[in-house]
Amino acid sequence: MPPSPAVWCRGLTKRFGRFTAVAGLTFEVEQGEVFGFLGPNGAGKSTTIRMLCGLLLPSEGAGEVAGLDVVRQAEAIKSRIGYMSQRFSLYGTLTVQENLEFYGGVYGLEGSALVRRIGAVMERLDLGHVRPHLARTLSAGIRQRLALGCAILHEPRILFLDEPTSGVDPLTRRRFFELIGDLRAQGVTVFVTTHVMDEAELCTRVALIRRRLIALGTPSELKRRVGGSFFRVRADHPGPAFEALQQRPDVADVSLVGGALHVRLRDSSADPKRWATELPEAGITDVEPAEPTIESVFLALMDPADEDEAW
Ligand SMILES: Nc1ncnc2c1ncn2[C@@H]1O[C@H](COP(=O)(O)OP(=O)(O)O)[C@@H](O)[C@H]1O
Ligand SMILES: [Mg+2]
Repeated sequence: MPPSPAVWCRGLTKRFGRFTAVAGLTFEVEQGEVFGFLGPNGAGKSTTIRMLCGLLLPSEGAGEVAGLDVVRQAEAIKSRIGYMSQRFSLYGTLTVQENLEFYGGVYGLEGSALVRRIGAVMERLDLGHVRPHLARTLSAGIRQRLALGCAILHEPRILFLDEPTSGVDPLTRRRFFELIGDLRAQGVTVFVTTHVMDEAELCTRVALIRRRLIALGTPSELKRRVGGSFFRVRADHPGPAFEALQQRPDVADVSLVGGALHVRLRDSSADPKRWATELPEAGITDVEPAEPTIESVFLALMDPADEDEAW
């Protein structure tokens, strides 16, 4: 028999009054995955995570986390998993050490087990040098590591991280994903939400969400799914270039990736080499064929009728 999934849900739905925030989600997360949950602000990522973590009851649908039912065993789920909320719930007036002691207590750790786990987390996340510092004085990157430390003290097998890298610089984000990789190497399943497209590339599989499930697959499967050809455009004036390209009839969509513009053609008869001369105001310096990015996949698969939320 294959191992049971770490997470599964079927028709998972959440309504707030008459507003449906999450509509009929069905998916499975295998043990040991780094499962990326990707969508714009307001897409329902946090609401879904909170239902899976036993913090919010679904309006409809079913699901299990670590073999526990999200409706009937919500309390038991909380102690089996690690959860890092979008607004990290650290105590600013407590020190790093005291925050770890507090969360250890919440998860039922005490005495020598607590001391041992705090030592291990401090070492793994490189927090020893800030042990006596108040949490509110820490940099965003260190605060993020402390929040992760609080979530893994009790050695959960499944970890839910809700936009853990928001507000930190790209290098710190990359390092954070290395820590996620270390946890995965130890067999921990990681469910991570983000609206940062390039983080999706670091996940084993990605679900694209906008209230409902738009697509699910490995990053390369998702990229193969969108048709059309893609070009990377470099320009001296990326802002005007972005607008000029977006308005062209031969262009399906444009996104900004790492300083370059990423363009999907609407029809393959277009000739992107001519853009530099046709759009002098854009200061285009280079156009070359490119691989699709996760962001272009999202733009291609999204229903244009729901294009109301901002990234
Ligand atoms: N407790 C609530 N009451 C009413 N609406 C809510 C509540 N929580 C979230 N929402 C709404 O549900 C939608 C999805 O929110 P959320 O899950 O936080 O999205 P995301 O995490 O993807 O940004 C948003 O429109 C949000 O305003
Ligand atoms: Mg959120």
